Amino acid sequence: MFSSKKDVSQEQALDMSRIPAHIAIIMDGNGRWAQKRHLPRVAGHKQGMQTVKTVTMAASDLGVKVLSLYAFSTENWKRPSSEVNYLMQLPIRFFSTFVPDLVKHNVRVMVMGDTTRLPEATQKAVNDAIKDTADCDGMVLNFALNYGSRDEITRAVKQIASEVQDGQLDPANITEQTISDHLMSAPLGELADPDLLIRTSGEERISNFMLWQIGYSELEFVDEHWPDFDGDSLKRAIIDFQGRHRRFGGLVNQ
Ligand code: IPE
Ligand code: IPE
Ligand code: MG
Repeated sequence: MFSSKKDVSQEQALDMSRIPAHIAIIMDGNGRWAQKRHLPRVAGHKQGMQTVKTVTMAASDLGVKVLSLYAFSTENWKRPSSEVNYLMQLPIRFFSTFVPDLVKHNVRVMVMGDTTRLPEATQKAVNDAIKDTADCDGMVLNFALNYGSRDEITRAVKQIASEVQDGQLDPANITEQTISDHLMSAPLGELADPDLLIRTSGEERISNFMLWQIGYSELEFVDEHWPDFDGDSLKRAIIDFQGRHRRFGGLVNQ
């Protein structure tokens, strides 16, 4: 018999000694989740916020070191202003209720993206959360907010070019590490590159997320819409990841 979605027997297959250090998630399908229920799209975003809490705790409990969540892309400004406005309020609601839990679980908040374009109250909520969790040294909860990887790479190129122009950097010394060091994920250091990238809602594309960093990530596309995703879904994705053979271009299973 095929195992059901919630079959716990799969949990036993989870190898706690090989949990991916950095998991990145493209949280997609909020709108469709709502539409299926004849609800406005924003109801999906509201429910999706609950999923962020659930999945953050699940990831932290599993010993994940970095959880990167794509919350708002540089392209999402194209949406109707009512939806954009709602999405801009979500971090305020999220952090106002969730920061104490984050601190309790030793989770540190970090953000990638140009937050200066966000409404002031949203910027404040984000900056306060970063400050309030600054001493936490457990999992990093890394939100991509007004983030786009092409924007990130463009900024990095500009920065590197100006360092060359100023004579601080010799073009001959530009390495892959130089590029990584100028991306928004640079504060993550060695953990900047996701081991596992998950996208929900059945779409199989990257939508401008961490293009440089996912060069050797394992990709997992799941059919569930983000509001339906939960701790068990995360475990299933990790079990699948653990069955992969990462070769990084070589021949051995590393
Ligand atoms: C993901 O859900 C959330 C954001 C992109 C902000 P969507 O809003 O993209 O939901 P669908 O893809 O339209 O169903
Ligand atoms: C990607 O989802 C962005 C986020 C999850 C924040 P989209 O729904 O915006 O991506 P496309 O438009 O389907 O590629
Ligand atoms: Mg979408």
